[in-house]
Amino acid sequence: PPPLPSLWGIPLKYLSLVTLAVQNSALTIIMHYSRVSTPPSRTYSAATAVLMNEILKGAISLVIAFMRIDSSLVAYENAQAPYVPPRPFTDRFLIRLRRLSREVFSPDCWKLSIPAILYVIQNNLQYVAASNLEAATFQVTYQMKILTTAAFSVLLLRKKLSPSQWLSLLFLAIGVGIVQIQAGIDKATTEGATHSTEGLSMNPWKGFLAVVAACFTSGLAGVYFEMVLKNSQADLWVRNIQLSLFSLLPALGPVVLAQHVNAAQSGGSFVSSLFENFGAWAWATVFVQVFGGLITALVIKYSDNILKGFATSLSIVMSFLASVALFDFKMTITFILGSTVVLIATWLYNQHPARVNSMINRESWS
Ligand code: C5P
Repeated sequence: PPPLPSLWGIPLKYLSLVTLAVQNSALTIIMHYSRVSTPPSRTYSAATAVLMNEILKGAISLVIAFMRIDSSLVAYENAQAPYVPPRPFTDRFLIRLRRLSREVFSPDCWKLSIPAILYVIQNNLQYVAASNLEAATFQVTYQMKILTTAAFSVLLLRKKLSPSQWLSLLFLAIGVGIVQIQAGIDKATTEGATHSTEGLSMNPWKGFLAVVAACFTSGLAGVYFEMVLKNSQADLWVRNIQLSLFSLLPALGPVVLAQHVNAAQSGGSFVSSLFENFGAWAWATVFVQVFGGLITALVIKYSDNILKGFATSLSIVMSFLASVALFDFKMTITFILGSTVVLIATWLYNQHPARVNSMINRESWS
């Protein structure tokens, strides 16, 4: 096999996993703060944030894909030298553009429409969850995506799980359940159902349902993207452009719908109402999410969805501690017990990661 790509001597596989863990914690905290730090009447539009996320991710992937095509072109010309005279700049630009568009609009590009739609739904659900659950509760409950990722790997990749992996999935469900019970007790003992820092009322059950739904889209979209990526020769960045392109329409839908309602009420222009209340924290959330999307793509390419689950479960501890410090989150025995069970389950699950890789490589999918 070719040597693992690395940066500063560290394999990209591990670098991307650790970066993803840090990014996950940062996103949980920043997104939660951006939603609960202002009264509901002055929160920004989550639909606009999701749309901005897709546009920025697509633009960054486009620049990277363009540069990669350039370097392969230069390498080709150097190999021909001195027989081929260098082409004028505009010529080379057009050649690159044509080659890139041929790759982006390849006959199999439609495959990305499925994860694209799922990710847009998931990214919207995440805002519902972050608005209705404590940051740490959200983070732990979101670990159930390991469960759905496993289920879709069994269904789509026909992956076999070892008995200890099945056991770890059971532990995971129990751990998430324990944390969830604690969130329910919190709600029952807090009069008026307001237990956020600045008086925004949160609905834990609404948040919980949003997380459960997001776990399903995460598992399916992740496994699907991994199949598309590992069963074709196409460049990761070209796949990302395709993913963003297919996301634009479903991401634009809720924005236009909301604007239609708002414009009738306030009479403001489309763009100004699009970015109403879209302050620094909203932009910070978008930037951290864009960064996360790009890292996720790298993780899926250089390792796999199961290891991704392990990395994000590490981030539980980080965001848990930050949550205690920043949001007055109370450290209860139940929360510690639930989190510990989730972490042990994640560790147990990852005792046999090699089977996943071999299964994906064996599987032929077209
Ligand atoms: O929670 P999960 O790991 O499933 O979240 C994946 C996130 O990464 C989503 O927000 C999705 O939009 C993003 N993503 C991406 N590009 C990829 C794969 C995922 O932006 N190629």
